[in-house]
Amino acid sequence: MHWKLLRRLSALALSALLTLPPAAPALASGETEREAFLAELAALPHYQEERAERYLAYLGSGEYTPEQILRIVNTDSDLTPYEDMVEADVSYGILTLVNKHRYLAEYEPEALSALGQYGSWGSMEKEARNAFASLADAAAADGYRIWGVSPYRSYERQRSIYNSYVRAHGQAEADTYSARPGWSEHQTGLAVDVAVRGRGYDAFDGTPECEWLKEHAHEFGFILRYGEGMDYITGYMYEPWHYRYVGAEAAAVIWENDLTFEEYYYYYVIGDEALPEAALH
Ligand code: DAL
Ligand code: ZN
Repeated sequence: MHWKLLRRLSALALSALLTLPPAAPALASGETEREAFLAELAALPHYQEERAERYLAYLGSGEYTPEQILRIVNTDSDLTPYEDMVEADVSYGILTLVNKHRYLAEYEPEALSALGQYGSWGSMEKEARNAFASLADAAAADGYRIWGVSPYRSYERQRSIYNSYVRAHGQAEADTYSARPGWSEHQTGLAVDVAVRGRGYDAFDGTPECEWLKEHAHEFGFILRYGEGMDYITGYMYEPWHYRYVGAEAAAVIWENDLTFEEYYYYYVIGDEALPEAALH
């Protein structure tokens, strides 16, 4: 390189250095850093002071945004799956939360009703089944073929599904997409895997039916349970085929506010936060 050009470049680098803005003042102490972190979180909706220490466990990790940290801790998703757990409270009926911290054990739904013409086999809890029938009829009227391929699954059925995934791919991988027996919301009779009729559920993503369902499922009380990029809360990878019945009011709030079911449950079912206004009419 020509020496004149070199000199010009180093002069430029020097002037860039001289015009750099002054560095932010260093924080006085670790305590101040903690306070600044909590103050940032406290400015967001749903901040809970009693969870401050648990938010602080994420200080400096850089993995999540402040909003994500609130979402994780507020839904107990920071706890250890399958170890920090309680029995799912099925007294909440269609709003029962089942996840990696809330298990069903040997629970069986009381009123199962056959899917009949709406799927290849099986049944769902009666209210959910009728809502699914309305959904599938409405889809058909718009020209879409929504078909139930895996509705209610007993403890035993889940056990054989989960075990076959573990045998094929190992437990760590299986746990990202398959619930352990006693830990699947399919066992409530409120969940259903769907497909385009005549095709597999794993070919559902990106189909017109998949898009229709994302836009309309909530009108019939269903939610996409394991949303894309939400595994840090739900504990499972994106499942475009897995829908969960929660009733029309909850489904509207969840859909309009882009919530996970975990958040809805913690804030509005067991928590005492007021439901967002949009869904009240
Ligand atoms: N695939 C979902 C998580 C289940 O097995 O229930
Ligand atoms: Zn499913």
